[in-house]
Amino acid sequence: MVKLGVIGCGGIATHQLSTVWPESAFELVAGADIRPEQLDSFREKFGMQRGYADYHELLRDSAVEAVMICTPTWLHAEMAIAAAAAGKPTFLQKPMAMCSYDCYRTMQAFEKAGVGLQIGFVRRFDNDWGTLKRVVDSGELGRPLVWRQFAGSAAPARPFFMNKMEGGGPMIDGMVHNYDFASYCFGEPVWVKSNPAKIRLDVTAWDTGTVLIGFEHGDQAVVSWTWGLPEGVQTSSATEVIGPNGVLFFPGSFDAKKAEGKINPQTESAYLMLLKGGVEKVIPFTRNNMFKEELLHFAAWVAAKTPPRVGADTGLRSTRIAEFALAGGGLF
Ligand SMILES: NC(=O)c1ccc[n+]([C@@H]2O[C@H](COP(=O)([O-])OP(=O)(O)OC[C@H]3O[C@@H](n4cnc5c(N)ncnc54)[C@H](O)[C@@H]3O)[C@@H](O)[C@H]2O)c1
Repeated sequence: MVKLGVIGCGGIATHQLSTVWPESAFELVAGADIRPEQLDSFREKFGMQRGYADYHELLRDSAVEAVMICTPTWLHAEMAIAAAAAGKPTFLQKPMAMCSYDCYRTMQAFEKAGVGLQIGFVRRFDNDWGTLKRVVDSGELGRPLVWRQFAGSAAPARPFFMNKMEGGGPMIDGMVHNYDFASYCFGEPVWVKSNPAKIRLDVTAWDTGTVLIGFEHGDQAVVSWTWGLPEGVQTSSATEVIGPNGVLFFPGSFDAKKAEGKINPQTESAYLMLLKGGVEKVIPFTRNNMFKEELLHFAAWVAAKTPPRVGADTGLRSTRIAEFALAGGGLF
């Protein structure tokens, strides 16, 4: 069992630890949070042994073998650099930092310390998004491809998400998952275009935007999101990939009846591919808990002293895309 310390015992830390509790790969030695009620909650839920108001004390705790950082994004770089200096292998939530310079400084701190850093791109561990990667790699749709996604909802409740300096809004916080996964599928980004917009007047971050990313082999990703809607309101949502040989529809983006009889609905879901002449192909996958898989990977590489699968380079690249997206565009 890995002896874990958690910095930022809030929403995502609670959700993610719950997926591996109680039959855990971790022993929760310590937590740090500026809200005492969160430390109490961690003691109760996960049997956490020690709670600190100051995260530096957690990093000085010699019983802590590895650290998970789940604080608001503007604090990530400062805390991760301190964790590297303390020699603690670290799992750092996405986005890696608010700007690429901070990502770069963080990456260098871990390299210098010779310590591993995993970035929380949880969709890398999802069988659902993994199916997209499999289809892209199979070449069945041909190349180049254009991945298009439209979605929208209210912003997450915690105020830092919609503060320009602390969370940055959906064009960094939410879409960064797409920036990373598109790069995983398509390779290095070469240009970004965007139209940051605001439909809410009470927040400092851009709440709405469409981002276009061009990749090295001519593929593109288009992500259009809003977090500007009132509580309880959602847009329709569609995700598809188009290529010279057809279209790939994500689960939820096609009539689910088409997969009936072809999947076990208890355990499986499916993509749908529409090919030349109207040929339909159902592509099933077994649903999994990506948050659980991601944490188990963290425990595994810490114990084996091997590098993580999703390292600092992924955080730097996707934060750089976010930086360009928030600025209206740019060339890599
Ligand atoms: N991977 C995902 O899908 C996913 C999902 C949600 C959030 N996140 C990311 O996780 C991070 C946290 O998000 P959240 O929703 O859990 O937020 P949250 O506000 O629920 O939790 C953050 C916690 O950090 C604590 N904190 C703030 N300042 C601190 C400090 N100086 N020292 C110690 N603790 C401090 C807060 O009190 C809070 O309990 C964000 O970067 C967010 O983008 C990732």
